[in-house]
Amino acid sequence: MQKQLRSKLWFGRSGKDGLIYRSWMKAQGIPDYEFNDKPVIGICNTWSELTPCNAHFRELAESVKRGISEAGGFPVEFPVMSLGETLIKPTAMLYRNLASMDVEESIRANPMDGVILLCGCDKTTPSLVMGACSVNIPTIVVSGGPMLTGNYKGKKISISDVWRYSEEQRGGKIDHDELRVIEASMCRSRGHCGVMGTASSMACMIESLGLALPGNAAIPAADARRKVLAQLSGLRIVEMVKEDLKLTDILTKKAFENSIITNAAIGGSTNFIIHLLAIAGRIGVDLSLPDFDRLSANVPLIANVQPGGVHFMEDLYYAGGLPAVLKELDGLLHGDAITVNGKTMKENYQRAECYDRDVIATREQPFKKTNGLAVLKGNICENGAVIKPAAASPALMKHTGKAVVFENIEDYKERIDDPALDVDETSVLVLKNVGPKGYPGMPEVGNMGLPKKLLQKGVADMVRISDGRMSGTGFGTVVLHVSPEAAMGGNFSVIQDGDLITLDVNARSLQLHVSDEELTNRKKQWKPSASVTDRGYVSLYIKHVEQSHLGADFDFLKGASGSEVLRDSH
Ligand code: FES
Repeated sequence: MQKQLRSKLWFGRSGKDGLIYRSWMKAQGIPDYEFNDKPVIGICNTWSELTPCNAHFRELAESVKRGISEAGGFPVEFPVMSLGETLIKPTAMLYRNLASMDVEESIRANPMDGVILLCGCDKTTPSLVMGACSVNIPTIVVSGGPMLTGNYKGKKISISDVWRYSEEQRGGKIDHDELRVIEASMCRSRGHCGVMGTASSMACMIESLGLALPGNAAIPAADARRKVLAQLSGLRIVEMVKEDLKLTDILTKKAFENSIITNAAIGGSTNFIIHLLAIAGRIGVDLSLPDFDRLSANVPLIANVQPGGVHFMEDLYYAGGLPAVLKELDGLLHGDAITVNGKTMKENYQRAECYDRDVIATREQPFKKTNGLAVLKGNICENGAVIKPAAASPALMKHTGKAVVFENIEDYKERIDDPALDVDETSVLVLKNVGPKGYPGMPEVGNMGLPKKLLQKGVADMVRISDGRMSGTGFGTVVLHVSPEAAMGGNFSVIQDGDLITLDVNARSLQLHVSDEELTNRKKQWKPSASVTDRGYVSLYIKHVEQSHLGADFDFLKGASGSEVLRDSH
């Protein structure tokens, strides 16, 4: 027997309450028959002109609506907080949990039987999925798609070139005027960053979790097939409501394991770890940092996409898209994991084809043997830290050097280009207090720029360690997400200039060569920095955000409250 529609609790009522619920909807010109036993599908829209990556979402929503109406559903579009990675200050990550609360409460509080999440720019994906998980009604994600590849002087460029060109400008190789021309050539269409940065990694995460229709991850935003996928998603969500296929049916441990394996094979962002942990926490799947290392360890890099490779997301789509990658991972993935179209993962990818082996390599002859992500342990990071070997320099994967310590980002900015800074290419740059609580918000500053005097000598990479994050488009031998962060008063808090540090990625080790006794003495002297504020959301964030190895969600948001409204006053 089909379950009663949740929306009937609003629109199916008689008397005063039903009159109010329907009448104010009718004020929008909606005919009476729309309220008769139709699944009401919310379209959760992160459109905003301040989130340029999602600027085409009103158009995409129209395609979704067409599909919903065609299938006999009733579409209702609603806005939620949108996080534009490039503009929002101090960092979009500070607001990921806030946006997830907006999404959760908006879905639960309103008459919806199913929901389509329109996600694109980095944080808009995890925040929407986290919020939806805490409600758990039928849900499909439609990603916005990557932007077209940039083109500068006949050369393909994209977001990873931000780092190259800005370092070239700092080193005096190009001037400001040329930079203005480059920036116009780089982002030349709607859509999210066109390399395997965080947004693309999130779109691949969604498809490998089974939360989107096959092909969702890589169709370019400007490609007409993106709209087709949106319409098909609208069609399908109505069926999902009838089948009562909910997020808990799809997001099993198998789905999470599939996603981790996929992320390793595509060279996905380190941010993937933190967001997947947070999503697992909401849906109640037991996932921890060692799972990422265990499942990634023997997965070769097969997607040759920047920043780890040379191609772009557009190329990945033309080469067969994520289904062709997943097919290549057959035997490693749980092929029986169920997905939103009601089919298994394997049923979805088995007919996929690869059209360009330079973009999607085989497992037997991978693009790189190095796996995408590694989890480090050691006395610097008792709860773990992460590195992306695929984006690091092979020569630095085992390295010992003297620490050059910056106590916070302001200290770094003030001294990094000081000619008197005691640093050479063997040094290890350490940046503290850019973690979840310490900054607060854990900004993407972990791939800090190198000292100018070393850039001018031609040094291109150094070992860098921080409790912050790195943009998924960034690269370098960069250790991130050190936990506990400096603001917690652990060993990382008391590293000093000149301390010897050894990074050994193969051994998964990050070690400070200072005795336990000395560390204990230093910690006795350690004092926490004053809080940046004691009011408002930021104060709430500092009090409740968890450490990065747990996903940096709020302690009180873990788990779900379901779809039932707490009190019904009408
Ligand atoms: Fe939006 Fe990169 S800035 S995806």
